[in-house]
Amino acid sequence: MAEPVTSQRILEHVQRLGEEHPPIELDSVDRGIRDPRAVADRYGRVIDYLARVELEVDRNVLELLVLLPDVSEVDRLFYADVWQPQEIQHGLILDRLQQDLGRAAAEPVLDVSYKMRIMGALAHFSAIQDIARLLYYLTGASTERQAVLAYNTIHGGMTELGETAIAETIITPIRRQEPGHFAFYRMSATELVHSGALRPWQLYLARVLREKTYNLVGTNGQDRYRTQMGGVVTALGFDTDLDKYAREVGRIEAQLLWAHERGMEFPPYVLRALRESIDLYRERGFDDAA
Ligand SMILES: [Fe+2]
Ligand SMILES: [Fe+2]
Repeated sequence: MAEPVTSQRILEHVQRLGEEHPPIELDSVDRGIRDPRAVADRYGRVIDYLARVELEVDRNVLELLVLLPDVSEVDRLFYADVWQPQEIQHGLILDRLQQDLGRAAAEPVLDVSYKMRIMGALAHFSAIQDIARLLYYLTGASTERQAVLAYNTIHGGMTELGETAIAETIITPIRRQEPGHFAFYRMSATELVHSGALRPWQLYLARVLREKTYNLVGTNGQDRYRTQMGGVVTALGFDTDLDKYAREVGRIEAQLLWAHERGMEFPPYVLRALRESIDLYRERGFDDAA
């Protein structure tokens, strides 16, 4: 059995991320592109999608302030000093890349949704806030894992295309920062569940809410983005083995939230969301979704 996750370990992890991974400077990027058209054909829309999602970090921070009115010091340290400064640079660098490829600038969604505000109002009850915290960590783990998988595949693809500058000065530094984010959310969710701080009814409500509100990364609960995400998943080749992808993305919450369902590798709603996105994409195509 691995060492138990403690608040102290999480704090040390965050401090280490801050020290070892300063935000990537725009000037550190080599903007040389061998064949912009080939890159745009293969990954243009994927990069559009990722640039938008990375730039939406500023909305995610606002949501967090709404959802967690009594945010803990280590959570604050993570999102304010480590996560937001890193993600915003990912967004700016990818947004510039998409424009270097002759594509339009990203249009991030920066308004906090009405649903989120309602949840935020309820989160003033501390028992509800603890549920919101768990959902926030699980969402983080799932979305960061999707980022890791996407950047790994894009790195391989860019290298194959001979786009060494993009692979080595954009994708490599970005993908180096994502696993640390994933680890933060994984450790935080694990610590919260294993500490026993949540009552059975809170875990039950967390399961119900998660099942009803699960979203793939960047879809913002909207069909146009679900459609685009179906296109991203397809362009990256994950559609050929959706179970495998669902396992990668849903394993943590299967273990923490659904431990009583023995042998569950991923929650069914993860696979359902993937299928739905891909169906929308096959029906409508990318352009229709834009
Ligand atoms: Fe990122
Ligand atoms: Fe990240």
